[in-house]
Amino acid sequence: HQAMAFADLLVQWYEKNKRQLPWRRERDPYRIWVSEIMLQQTRVEAVIPYYERFMEQFPTLQELADAPEDRVLKAWEGLGYYSRARNLHQAVREVQTHYNGIVPDEPDAMGNLPGVGPYTLGAVLSIAYNKEIPAVDGNVMRVISRVFYLYDDIGKQKTRKTIEQMVQQMIPTGKASQFNQGLMELGALVCIPGNPRCLGCPVQTVCRAYAEGVQKELPVKEKK
Ligand code: ADE
Repeated sequence: HQAMAFADLLVQWYEKNKRQLPWRRERDPYRIWVSEIMLQQTRVEAVIPYYERFMEQFPTLQELADAPEDRVLKAWEGLGYYSRARNLHQAVREVQTHYNGIVPDEPDAMGNLPGVGPYTLGAVLSIAYNKEIPAVDGNVMRVISRVFYLYDDIGKQKTRKTIEQMVQQMIPTGKASQFNQGLMELGALVCIPGNPRCLGCPVQTVCRAYAEGVQKELPVKEKK
């Protein structure tokens, strides 16, 4: 019951309050994919100008696949973590050759491409194709730990798996895209690290950490 109420409240809130971000104008899987790769180690505000410029230079998957690597790395300059760009470039080349230029909507196919881990897989397939697959990053682990009063160490692989399973169970039928993006958005705007903004939170009534007054203690992250 808590999970269903949570999912409904979250999706309603997301639909009304989502930020207008460049990649949210798109349903093109290639464009969603680029945005998710850029967003992995870089903040939203920093990504926006890079994303816009990258899309002007490489508007389609085919144009990125056909570009020489040095042009791609040049466009990535300033974002850092260049292996992201190299993997993305290699991956779109594989999509171009093996999948006719169509980003695969099958998890096994997409998940085997370079640089596509469980987070990227879930984010792209849920946002672009509305597939019911979790997309769990640090923000999502924080939200879930708090709402469901989970004291497991989020630095552990096992905890990530547990949270992925919980999210999988909660995705409302036909609303994977909104639900996953709602989790990300809540984590970015409301359920922030440190001192969360519980007074304006759309899921306050179903949040167990808030009920117990322990929202600042969660999530648990043991020092390595
Ligand atoms: N962080 C990771 N993916 C995101 C997305 N699609 N929108 C906003 N922030 C994000």
